[in-house]
Amino acid sequence: MTIGIDQIGLYTPNWYIDLRELARARGDEPDKYTIGIGQDQQAVAPSSQDIVTMAAAAARELTIDTTKLGLIVVGTESGIDASKASALYVQRLLGLHPWVRALEIKEACYGGTAGLMMARDYVATHPGQQALVIASDIARYGLATGGEVTQGAGAVAMLVTEAPRVLALADDSVYYAEEIMDFWRPVYQDTALARGKYSTEQYLAFFKRVWAQYQRQSGRTVADFDALCFHLPYTKMGLKALRLALPAASAVQQAELTARFERSIQYSRRIGNIYTGSLYLGLLSLLELDDTLTPGARIGLFSYGSGAVGEFFSGTLVEGFTAHLHRADHAALLDARTRLSIPDYETLFRDKVPYGPADYSSDPAFFAGPFVLTGVSGQERQYRTN
Ligand code: CAA
Repeated sequence: MTIGIDQIGLYTPNWYIDLRELARARGDEPDKYTIGIGQDQQAVAPSSQDIVTMAAAAARELTIDTTKLGLIVVGTESGIDASKASALYVQRLLGLHPWVRALEIKEACYGGTAGLMMARDYVATHPGQQALVIASDIARYGLATGGEVTQGAGAVAMLVTEAPRVLALADDSVYYAEEIMDFWRPVYQDTALARGKYSTEQYLAFFKRVWAQYQRQSGRTVADFDALCFHLPYTKMGLKALRLALPAASAVQQAELTARFERSIQYSRRIGNIYTGSLYLGLLSLLELDDTLTPGARIGLFSYGSGAVGEFFSGTLVEGFTAHLHRADHAALLDARTRLSIPDYETLFRDKVPYGPADYSSDPAFFAGPFVLTGVSGQERQYRTN
């Protein structure tokens, strides 16, 4: 049975900042952000958007036969509740039927991959059933911190089915876990803590380890891949990992893998880190912006979640995959966003649920988007469908 990604959707809030402006405001050299880090823009989530509204908006792009849906799993590391799963809110907002397992999954940025693998196993053991996997996050490190340039916000939703129409997943995962303190967020914090340099070293060490083991286990080498996608906390991080794999490739293939990597980072350059969804944002960017990949092309994917878990796996493109993408919609989504000044972004950043959003209630842009959080009443989040 072939199982994989049948459809893939995206959502990101309608505000962003220009990172050259942020660099100037922080007294940094703009090239450090755009070249050294590899980010041009950063999505900013107002307090009327959270991981639920973004997750539901990304999943709204999918056509779901609700009678076949057996599992809804949300991967996130910026959850809104320590107990209740965001998947339940998503189920209600999308009007999905109740005969499902609905849950949330956590292991830093690896949560999206954990959900995807759970979905694959679910479909394998429940023939005819489908699974909805959503990776939704708001990456927050804090104003004027070292991590600020690597923030972002957004969600990627994937429908996992038999006979998928976009990417058939191979059964070739290699994964490795080890308890380390490179990045974490205690429950009393709304911003992440990171040992920046150490986290980048660990990301690369995990990649080297699983990539070597993958090659031993599968018998495949870099020559078997048409493209490589990486978890993208910032795009330079993925480039550093790509450079570890390239030397074993021929000159022609090095050029091809590098060109396709460039296409895979375009959405991330404009949105930033979306933690659990970052790898899949890269995959989506590659599929929607590259017109050289053909059916049967093998794509390698490296997932990394601090703390830490690394996994490498692959998939092959399915005949007719381009017909099931939403390239024009995603271009419009990104192009329609409004650029915020740095002072306005700082104000929005400090506006936190449940204290906001009184200052903005008269601004229609604040409550734009398919789903919004209108406030908190009696300790319950109030959502509205626009
Ligand atoms: N022009 C061009 N490049 C410049 C430059 C300029 N004027 N000035 C500096 N640079 C380059 C530097 O040479 C450096 O490049 P290399 O990494 O290739 O050497 C790059 O810009 C970054 O410079 P610094 O290392 O000095 O940057 P920094 O100290 O400000 O830290 C960071 C960068 C560690 C990524 C920090 O932003 C951070 O802590 N981010 C959060 C943690 C993170 O994203 N970790 C990634 C791995 S963990 C993970 O993947 C999970 C997750 O999603 C969080």
